[in-house]
Amino acid sequence: MDAKQAAAHKAVEYIKDGMVVGLGTGSTAYWAIQYLAERVKQGLRVTTVATSAETEKIARECGIVVEEIDSVGSIDIDIDGADEIDAGMNLVKGGGGALLREKIVAAASREFIVIAGGNKRVDTLGKFPLPVEVIPFGWKHTAKQLAALGCTPSLRKKDGQNFITDSGNYIIDCHFGSIPEPATLQQQINNIAGVVENGLFVKMATRVVLGYDDGTTKEFF
Ligand code: 5RP
Repeated sequence: MDAKQAAAHKAVEYIKDGMVVGLGTGSTAYWAIQYLAERVKQGLRVTTVATSAETEKIARECGIVVEEIDSVGSIDIDIDGADEIDAGMNLVKGGGGALLREKIVAAASREFIVIAGGNKRVDTLGKFPLPVEVIPFGWKHTAKQLAALGCTPSLRKKDGQNFITDSGNYIIDCHFGSIPEPATLQQQINNIAGVVENGLFVKMATRVVLGYDDGTTKEFF
């Protein structure tokens, strides 16, 4: 069991029979879906909602029923990965481009468990470029305003084309280097016209499970 698997396996233990579960996106969340599928095969009953089309597909392929988010009244537990995690459990997310739906699901969840390899833990956020989801219309102007906040913005590409999110938007990766005040920055970014959402998740996580390659985990909450 590697670091990602260890974190995912531990987090899935918090899922109880009858819960509504948010399924995260990315290579660590992938393992949480696999471990949840094993438990479902053993008889665990859960309702799930997905944070991306990719996750929905993976979950369905391994036999998990996925519902529309607005068909569930509330979400008991959301398990998702992160690109960076600081000591205050603030996160940078969106490496996989799913930050908008990930934030909506996390915000609607009673418990939001973040799973990651121990290497994602940082003293200060910002080394990982901050993903910002923007409306395609006028994106270069939006990027200029992001740059004015002190970053170098770059439009995300995939296979030579502009990366398109599940909601039909672009991602601008913002290279800040260091984000000492994530709470302030997330407000400043979301005040820019054209910005849909940013990948800073401030004071949203209720528990962090870090995994290590020897199969052990460490938890913060
Ligand atoms: C996707 C995300 C992912 O959770 C984040 O990028 C971490 O991915 P991984 O577990 O593959 O390292 O935010 O938008």
